[in-house]
Amino acid sequence: MAEDSEDVLHVVGGKPLNGTIKVRGAKNFVSKAMVAALLAPGVSVLKNVPEIRDVHVVSDLLRLHGVNVDVNGDKGIVTIDATNVQLADVADVDTLSGSSRIPILFSGPLLHRLGEAFIPQLGGCNIGGRPIDFHLETLRKLGANVDKEHQDGIHITAPNGLHGAKIHLPYPSVGATEQTLLAAVLAEGRTELSGAAIEPEIMDLVAVLQKMGAIISVDVDRTFRVEGVKELKGYTHTSLTDRIEAASWASAALATHGDIFVKGATQPEMMTFLNVFRKIGGEFDITDKGIRFWHPGGDLKSVALETDVHPGFMTDWQQPLVVALTQANGLSIVHETVYENRFGFTKPLVQMGATIQLYRECLGSLPCRFQQRNYKHSAVIFGPTPLEGRDIDVPDLRGGFSHLIAALTAKGPSDVRGISLIDRGYADFRGKLTALDAAID
Ligand code: EPZ
Repeated sequence: MAEDSEDVLHVVGGKPLNGTIKVRGAKNFVSKAMVAALLAPGVSVLKNVPEIRDVHVVSDLLRLHGVNVDVNGDKGIVTIDATNVQLADVADVDTLSGSSRIPILFSGPLLHRLGEAFIPQLGGCNIGGRPIDFHLETLRKLGANVDKEHQDGIHITAPNGLHGAKIHLPYPSVGATEQTLLAAVLAEGRTELSGAAIEPEIMDLVAVLQKMGAIISVDVDRTFRVEGVKELKGYTHTSLTDRIEAASWASAALATHGDIFVKGATQPEMMTFLNVFRKIGGEFDITDKGIRFWHPGGDLKSVALETDVHPGFMTDWQQPLVVALTQANGLSIVHETVYENRFGFTKPLVQMGATIQLYRECLGSLPCRFQQRNYKHSAVIFGPTPLEGRDIDVPDLRGGFSHLIAALTAKGPSDVRGISLIDRGYADFRGKLTALDAAID
C-alpha cells in the first residue's frame, strides 16, 4: 500500500500516558441528531459536537439537499437550517457513497419532506456484514416503495406518505431502531416498534425528537410507541458524552500503566464498562467534571466478558480493552455477540508479541447468533506478554485505536499506517496523545 507519510503516525511506546484530555459529544449520536433536524422546516442547534469526520460527511449530505449547515469546530456547535429541502443530484450523493452508514437514516426525513430519497452505498467499519434488511423492511411497512438496491445506491419513494405500522426487530439493531423512529414521528397514525435497541445514544435522539414535538414512549419490554404528529420544529440540544471514546482512553491508561483524567466522561452511560475496568484491577474516580482512570501498579487480572446490546458490555468497548488484557495475568475471554467479524485487529497484536487465539465457538454464558457459523467471534487472550513495536495497518476505527494503544504499550518504535481512519471517531487524537506525553510524531 502506497505509504502516505501524512497517514502514518510514528510511535515510540513504553511510556505511561499521563494527563488530562477532554471528550465531547457522542459520535454515534450527533450524526443522527443532525439527520433529525431535516424533519423540521426550521433552525436546529446541536452543542458539544466533536470535530470528527462523520460530522462533516453528514453536513455535506445535508447541504447536497439544500440545507444550510454551519459547523463551528472550536465551539463544538452545529447550526442547521432545514427550512428549504430539495432533491439532491444522484451523482452528487453518490460521491459520498462508502463514507459512512448514516446516509440510510436520511430515508424517513427525506420521504416526509420530499416524498422520495436516494441513498448512496453505505460505508462504515469492516467488522461484519452490516446488513440493512431491517431498515428496508421497516420503511416498506411504513408505506415506502424501496427499489431493489442498485449498484450505486437505493431509490425510495412514498407517493402517499408514510403511515404508522407494527414493527418487530429480530435483533435490537441500533440503526434500524433509529430508522424507525426518524420515519415514524411524522407518519400518519401510531407506530409500535418491539425488540428495539435502547442505547443511551438512542434515548438522546428520542429526547431531541420530543423537543421537536414528537410523541414517543418506551416500555419496559423495549417497545417504542410513536404517535405521528403533523409537523415538527427545530431543536436546541447538547449531546451526551462519547462513552466509547472515554472507555478507549481508559483502556489506554490501563495498558500503558498510565493515569488519564477524561473531562466530560459521565458515569451512568459507562457503568458496565466501569465494573469490568475495576475487576481487571483498574482504578477510577468519578467527579462532576469527568472521570480519572489509572493503573494503580501491581498485576492486572484477567476477565471473561461478553459483548451485548445496552445495558450489556458494548461491542465498541472490547477492541481497545483487549490490548489491556494482553497485559493482564492469566487467560481472558471475549465473546463478541454483536458483530461476527470484529477480531481482525488482533492479528497485528499477535505479531507484536501478544498471545491471542480466536474461536468459532460461543465462549460465553449464552450461545449467540453466530453459533455453529463460520465466524471466529470468540477470543482467548493470555497474558501478561511484552509487546514489541512494529509497523501496523489500521483495519477499522476501533481496531485502529487498539493498534494505537498497542504501539503506545509496546517497547520500541511502531509506524501506525492509515491513521487518518481514526479521525472518524476520535477528535484531535494526535493533540490528545501529545497532552498525555506520548512519544509520537
Ligand atoms: C451502531 O451501528 C454504531 N454505529 C456502531 O458503532 C455500534 O457498534 C453498533 O451500533 C452497535 O452498538 C453508529 O451508530 C454510526 P446495528 P449499527 O444495526 O447501527 C444486525 C463505531 O465504531 N443487523 O445495531 O450499524 C447485524 O447482525 C460503530 O462507532 C441486521 O441483521 O449497528 C449487526 O451486526 C461500529 N440487519 C447487528 O445487527 C440490519 O438491518 C448490529 O448492528 C441491521 C443490523
